[in-house]
Amino acid sequence: MSKLRIANLSPHLSHFFLALAALLFVLTGAHAQTRPNVMILATGGTIAGTGATSTTTVGYTAAKIGVDQLIAAVPELAKVANVKGEQVFQIASESMTNEHWLTLGKRVNALLAQSDVDGIVITHGTDTTEETAYFLNLVVKSRKPVVLVGAMRPSTALSADGPINLYNAVAIAGSRDAVGKGVLVAFNDQIHFARDVSKTNTSTPDAFKTPELGLAGYIQGGKPFFYRTTARKHTVDTEFDIANLNALPQVDIVYGYANMSPVALDAFIAAGAKGIIHAGVGNGSLAARVKPALIAARKKGTFIVRASRVGQGILARNGEANDDELDFVAADTLNPQKARILLMLALTKTNNTAEIQRMFYTY
Ligand code: DGL
Repeated sequence: MSKLRIANLSPHLSHFFLALAALLFVLTGAHAQTRPNVMILATGGTIAGTGATSTTTVGYTAAKIGVDQLIAAVPELAKVANVKGEQVFQIASESMTNEHWLTLGKRVNALLAQSDVDGIVITHGTDTTEETAYFLNLVVKSRKPVVLVGAMRPSTALSADGPINLYNAVAIAGSRDAVGKGVLVAFNDQIHFARDVSKTNTSTPDAFKTPELGLAGYIQGGKPFFYRTTARKHTVDTEFDIANLNALPQVDIVYGYANMSPVALDAFIAAGAKGIIHAGVGNGSLAARVKPALIAARKKGTFIVRASRVGQGILARNGEANDDELDFVAADTLNPQKARILLMLALTKTNNTAEIQRMFYTY
């Protein structure tokens, strides 16, 4: 007896009704309801860039083509999700500002609150992808997937990486497996957690790395494979809320190097910085010529976070400086540009150093 036979009907009639059901499923678009709804928010960057020739992979112009063109260039997106596009900005990401972040974060939260949005992809310049991703990791108030993606080669280049990166990002954003993982970054068939990823090469398609703390997983054949969860709180589990924020406190970064002087630090303080990230050499060491200026700044009320320019490892509290005595904060494993983001958000909640240090050990 054919397994496909509907009880008490001839096999031919059974096959007819099954074929009819399949046809109706396709014609009514019912299959579309089985696909997730993914919003693509475009902000510019190289993924939207154009070059003079197909071999122009440097010296191109970023942020030239719009979100509709990005989507049209990848018809395969329709296989993994129902996508809609929105052009939030059209900028090269080195020009991203705190105001852009607040606008983007509020838009993401508004869209994710909609029941007809299952996930969001943000196309973005690679220069500050890690920063925007970490900011959103702290302020998005949904467990739905948010995936940042870009390209290291412009859309006009031979073997442009944008289309496959975009396809992968949409597949991840529409996947139930990505729910609750925090904000993710998808590049080069790899999936990274927002907190720990950084851009590690100026031009190659494998630029995004999470060198020591490890990838979240891979994307292969339109399916994400996760092998880790992040140990740090994010999204719905953070204490940060930007809904009523129209500005972020000014926090600047002082870069450490041999022969450095306090000139840059003094200029930031004079310009009104509420916090300073000291991107020190090694384990956040303080040069003899600069330490007094940092102590004076703290005494005047500016918060000081000791970070490291090194890239990997724990910035140890009370290691290269007596943070307890100086009332400084240690950045843990956050790089300077991410430490800046956390300190800005921390200062919207507290002026207590111990509370700020807790946040650096929590997020
Ligand atoms: N101007 C850089 C940016 O928009 C280009 C780098 C890129 O997007 O890959 O971040």
